[in-house]
Amino acid sequence: MKKPGEVFADASVYDPGIEAIVPRYDELHDALLNAPPHDRDRSIRVLELGAGTGELTAKLLTRFPESTVVAVDHSEQMLAEAERKLATFGDRAQLARGAFPDDYPDASGEYDLVVSSLAIHHLDEADKRALFDAVLASLAPGGWFLNADVVRFDAPHLESLAEDMIENWVRAKGWEERDFMDEWEASDDYDDPSTLTDQLVWLRESGFEAVTSIWQYYNFAVYGGAKPA
Ligand SMILES: C[S@@+](CC[C@H](N)C(=O)[O-])C[C@H]1O[C@@H](n2cnc3c(N)ncnc32)[C@H](O)[C@@H]1O
Repeated sequence: MKKPGEVFADASVYDPGIEAIVPRYDELHDALLNAPPHDRDRSIRVLELGAGTGELTAKLLTRFPESTVVAVDHSEQMLAEAERKLATFGDRAQLARGAFPDDYPDASGEYDLVVSSLAIHHLDEADKRALFDAVLASLAPGGWFLNADVVRFDAPHLESLAEDMIENWVRAKGWEERDFMDEWEASDDYDDPSTLTDQLVWLRESGFEAVTSIWQYYNFAVYGGAKPA
């Protein structure tokens, strides 16, 4: 039985698989990584929620060469892939097994940056709101929270448009016939995306400032906000 967000039963196919089914996956990560206000040479402390195989983690550690990252995930097999990928970064990458919002964030005022990609949309509204509160508490004053994630449209015709766009993307990548496309569809059971607008409001209500959307491509968005300084 897969855990929410594992996507594939075999985590070793995640990296090629996710690029085939999430349009502009690299651009999504880039939009997030371009958004923090911190100088690249500053030694920032980062918490990543739902690190998976460590794709965003590796890009972040490369982009911010003095950063350290605590990379959290509830999936043992995803963390095993991340451990291999991140070994080259030594103790700058610390892997932690646990679930959000129950186990993480577990810090107060500690992080300069909290990031997440393609993971928070598995939580329902109450858990998203609880997570946003806990993320704010875990940030140092002036710290930023940035999330790259699946969002929902309120308009049914835009939801259909987004589905068509993904199907076309998958077909163009040549993965349609692959068995694991069925697995991807089965993982929809765990999805509970919220609208972008709702999440921006919830961030405001949690106490974030400068709340904003930074990038959107159909039902994928990068958004976030800052803890008041
Ligand atoms: C689709 S993957 C995204 C991985 C990576 N962030 C990326 O951009 O490719 C989602 C990850 O979030 C993890 N995840 C989902 N919900 C979680 C939760 N509540 N607590 C901890 N990890 C969670 C899953 O195990 C999975 O590894």
